[in-house]
Amino acid sequence: MDEYYYLMHKDTVCGVLKIDTESGTLSNFRSNRPDYMPFFGHGSKAQMQIWWKNRAVPGSRKDMAEIFHQAGCTTPSEYLVKNLGLSLTDSYWICPNGSRMKWKDINLYRHILIKKPFVPYHNASSFDPNASLGGQMEKYWDLSGDIPVLVKKSPLYHGQQAVNEAFATLLHSKQKTDIPYVSYTVQKSPDDGIYCSVCPAFTSEKYEFISAYEMVSSELKPNHKSMYDHFIDVCVLHGLAREQVQRFLDYQTLTDFVLSNTDEHLMNFGILRNTDTMDLTGPSPIFDTGNSMFYTDDDNVTPYTRSELLEQKITGIHDREERMLEHVKYKNVVNTSRLPSVQTVKDFYMQYGLDPSRAAFLAQNYGTKCEMLGEFQHGLKISIFLEKRKGQSQKHPRG
Ligand SMILES: Nc1ncnc2c1ncn2[C@@H]1O[C@H](COP(=O)(O)OP(=O)(O)OP(=O)(O)O)[C@@H](O)[C@H]1O
Ligand SMILES: [Mg+2]
Repeated sequence: MDEYYYLMHKDTVCGVLKIDTESGTLSNFRSNRPDYMPFFGHGSKAQMQIWWKNRAVPGSRKDMAEIFHQAGCTTPSEYLVKNLGLSLTDSYWICPNGSRMKWKDINLYRHILIKKPFVPYHNASSFDPNASLGGQMEKYWDLSGDIPVLVKKSPLYHGQQAVNEAFATLLHSKQKTDIPYVSYTVQKSPDDGIYCSVCPAFTSEKYEFISAYEMVSSELKPNHKSMYDHFIDVCVLHGLAREQVQRFLDYQTLTDFVLSNTDEHLMNFGILRNTDTMDLTGPSPIFDTGNSMFYTDDDNVTPYTRSELLEQKITGIHDREERMLEHVKYKNVVNTSRLPSVQTVKDFYMQYGLDPSRAAFLAQNYGTKCEMLGEFQHGLKISIFLEKRKGQSQKHPRG
């Protein structure tokens, strides 16, 4: 059965959503205020359906299964509807037709501050901020402090994904640029001893996150234009300075290269918007760098050759790093002399219990990437093809 909900942005009625109550899926929508709608009001029905689906936790997330079950929900979207679509990353929510609920009654931030129970709805004693917390890794919001803190559990690969996020933080902090990044620390979960990466929210009641996916989908991309440039152009169209966005994206691309981050998809970066003025304020801090530093190559201790490093597949605008580098304009936005040394990397990972030979493997691969970045900055082309032509067949280029 379909039910109607107002799509709200704080107390602004953006439009009406028709939602199938059993599955929680969006069957149709109407826009009242395109300027307040997702996709800047340019979303098609299919795009709005994806927006709504992506707002819920992925079905594959085992940590939420029991919670859905207890709430009597069969799908993540149904659970999202029960929680009024509320999120700690933006100010959208859904208001049941005929209800007089206001933003002040239900907004998650306000209730963290005043530490009062949430308004009950659908027999729930409070709204669950995790109903809209996406991504593949098991995670939750810790609301015990003054600001929300995201805790991502890292049970696989000896907890390396959590350690990687802390290492990325170290790398960014040493660069001393004005490029924003999320500060992750590693903590051990008190109940099971599993490593977690812990970070403060970069969103608030005042600033919300718009993913790069939403940005690029809001305008038609001309065929001749790359997705990288299209993202920059859409940001500029909405008032951001071209140089600021290009520098940000170049910095992210180059640091992702050095860290061998394989998870560069369009939901893993984006833009912040002022939720009162609806003006974009700039790129959101760099986040989610855990799928990096060869974290899946569990048993491998022999460092990669340059061409092997360049052969690593990534998930992003392109599937290879060298293609990403082609878009970089500000090659020197990363200062190679400020990158952590190979020895620092080895010590860093050993401090978190990584086997010395495995830590050396990561550090040496990282060192090769730093060398390649240096060459790239000096105008040399970084290419698998060229590396292969050099006949570089030895397995241990750096001893
Ligand atoms: N510090 C933060 N502040 C606010 N929102 C955040 C923060 N970190 C992550 N998010 C939001 O939570 C989502 C999931 O977080 P994250 O990307 O770190 O998880 P993941 O499980 O590693 O994701 P993936 O499936 O891409 O690997 C992000 O896409 C973003 O919308
Ligand atoms: Mg992510």
